[in-house]
Amino acid sequence: MRQARDIIREECEILHLTDKQIREIMSRLHNDLIKGLGKDTHATSIVKCWLTYIQDLPNGKERGKFLALDLGGTNFRVLIINLGENHFDMQSKIYAIPSHIMTGTGVALFDHIAECLANFMKEHNVYEERLALGFTFSFPLKQLGLTKGILQRWTKGFSCSGVVGEDVVQGLKDAIARRGDLSLSVMGILNDATGTLMSCAHKEPHCRIGVIIGTGSNACYVEKTENCELFDGEPGKPDLLINTEWGAFGDDGTLDFVRTEFDREVDSNSINPGKQIQEKMISGMYMGELVRLALVKFTKMGLLFGGHGSDLLFQRGSFYTKYVSEIESDKPGDFTSCMEVLEELGLSHATEADMAGVRHVCECISRRAAHLVSAGIATLLNKMNEPRVTVGIDGSVYRFHPHFHTLMCEKIAQLVRPGIQFDLMLSEDGSGRGAALVAAVACRQRLQFA
Ligand code: BGC
Repeated sequence: MRQARDIIREECEILHLTDKQIREIMSRLHNDLIKGLGKDTHATSIVKCWLTYIQDLPNGKERGKFLALDLGGTNFRVLIINLGENHFDMQSKIYAIPSHIMTGTGVALFDHIAECLANFMKEHNVYEERLALGFTFSFPLKQLGLTKGILQRWTKGFSCSGVVGEDVVQGLKDAIARRGDLSLSVMGILNDATGTLMSCAHKEPHCRIGVIIGTGSNACYVEKTENCELFDGEPGKPDLLINTEWGAFGDDGTLDFVRTEFDREVDSNSINPGKQIQEKMISGMYMGELVRLALVKFTKMGLLFGGHGSDLLFQRGSFYTKYVSEIESDKPGDFTSCMEVLEELGLSHATEADMAGVRHVCECISRRAAHLVSAGIATLLNKMNEPRVTVGIDGSVYRFHPHFHTLMCEKIAQLVRPGIQFDLMLSEDGSGRGAALVAAVACRQRLQFA
């Protein structure tokens, strides 16, 4: 008789992407990127390739004191950053965004942000100063300039009313004006992937791609300005940073040939069904839930836990993505973390075979995510076709998953054109530092042209 272990392995085969499938995904993504950049195809393209209006990478000479706001991951942060000759210091504070604000009105959201900002400035004795501010806003924005960005859609569980279709910088400025007590110059708005690219480029001149694998998924890269058909900014500069918003890849069914029943269920239970399909197969907001759905299925099939789950296992959202990292951190043959997680979920009756099954499910889902991100990065590397590129990466999944980095290095190496050298570099706080750098570069230029 076949053992439960073998059946679980067979069932999980649908989570395995073959090389042929990965190459197909790359070619489809490549087409979508080209469509996003093209004047006549952009409007209907799923991968939008938004222009950022950032054309200069930092040169390491940026100096000064800057404020930064970082909205878009699990937390909202305010930061104050000092860029000095040989030092860089940064202080920051995390503020919660209560869920009634995440799903309330835009006005309430911006008022909350402005209030946190004011409190932070008081605490850091800069309340009276007129500082330059960079705003990392990690949602799809159609930028009309460095300080003007129209929100296209909310992602990652946000749904504040009255913001989609509006200029987010104006929303922030209006909230600051309603208070009437702060004087700031908003120097730039950017995405976290862009921030990651800027922040890594500050340290490592070969950095040309920034990637986020955190609550959401996205990539930004350096494109030749001549390929950006919609660009209407300052002419004459060779490069332009592009915010791909690749998390939306698949929204037109392009990825259906590799999606599974678990992906479809995660999507239909989400706040934005049909949207951010690639992101839902990869990122931290969804990975734990994908694992949970597979575990539920195998329990109901009698393949795990003697067919007996627990209330928590059957509860949506109860399997956190951090569990995947914890479970896969156990050495082979050891199930210490796995046992702890299963106990937390009320599954203390799990046997060693169950734990091996759970770990296998986690491995399949995280490996698939790592391979999908690798396909994306390799597509960009091949498109850019530069001999050596560093990829700056940030986000909780990449940072905390014990094997993500290695899986990606191996896969990307197989997928890039011969002769392309690449490195994956963990970004140190890209969204905060990147916002300060964008503000600093903008101030530098303002002085140059003044
Ligand atoms: C957003 C991107 C962001 C990414 C990572 C996605 O949901 O659309 O703008 O960069 O999450 O935070």
